[in-house]
Amino acid sequence: MSLLEVRDVTKVFGTLTALGGASMTVADNEFHGLIGPNGSGKSTMLKCIAGAEIPTSGSVVLSGKDITGATPPERSRAGMSLKFQITAVLPQLSVYDNLLLAVQAHQPMLGLLLSRSRRALDEKVMDLLGQFRLADRRDDIAGTLSHGQQQWLEIAMALSREPKLLLLDEPTAGMSPQERRVTGDLIAPIKTRCSLLIVEHDLDFIKDICDSLTVLDQGRIVATGPTAQVQKDERVKEAHLSHG
Ligand SMILES: Nc1ncnc2c1ncn2[C@@H]1O[C@H](COP(=O)(O)OP(=O)(O)OP(=O)(O)O)[C@@H](O)[C@H]1O
Ligand SMILES: [Mg+2]
Repeated sequence: MSLLEVRDVTKVFGTLTALGGASMTVADNEFHGLIGPNGSGKSTMLKCIAGAEIPTSGSVVLSGKDITGATPPERSRAGMSLKFQITAVLPQLSVYDNLLLAVQAHQPMLGLLLSRSRRALDEKVMDLLGQFRLADRRDDIAGTLSHGQQQWLEIAMALSREPKLLLLDEPTAGMSPQERRVTGDLIAPIKTRCSLLIVEHDLDFIKDICDSLTVLDQGRIVATGPTAQVQKDERVKEAHLSHG
């Protein structure tokens, strides 16, 4: 059984069909890239999975459970975590406090009163800050981080809830080539912990980190499967090069 199954999902906005019967799967501990030209339906697909949009028809199944109409908190409890293009970082708070808030959100209230649990929280926050190269910025105001560092903080925040599936929509948008390379290095080790579904424009970036790719063109899936196989597909080259 796949961790995530998207079954024949259609999403219609007025007269526009953003997704026209799209099916794809993500396995446990798989890194899956979603690519395609502008307006091909990538963000709509991620939103239908995350619950920010409800499909017009079709279904979304996580760990065998139908979550098509579930609320975002229900999806979060089912093991899904996401980072969208709009930032969730609170710029006036310190880097540490931003992450602490994210980590605390998933702790039972009573536990927070115990110093033992507070120490465990601190360890978890520092551990995540270390993994995302932000430990030396812990006391700085989050608004002073570079664009790339803010994205890394957000990925750390999304991971703090220990999801089974992490959804990322263009995490490297607006990053320098150097920050992009570091992002690849920072994301790679999370494979032992969860699956990843990542939307990206930059094929070179995701082909190196993803096991599988799905290519969308005008709301339809042109190809889906192992990265090496999809990359060779002639229709993929056409779809990507003609509008991409
Ligand atoms: N809320 C909405 N209302 C109306 N149309 C929408 C809405 N959201 C998306 N669309 C349209 O659906 C189509 C797919 O959009 P989507 O944002 O999913 O594309 P995308 O592949 O993420 O594009 P990009 O690469 O530019 O981010 C586009 O034509 C877009 O204009
Ligand atoms: Mg998009």
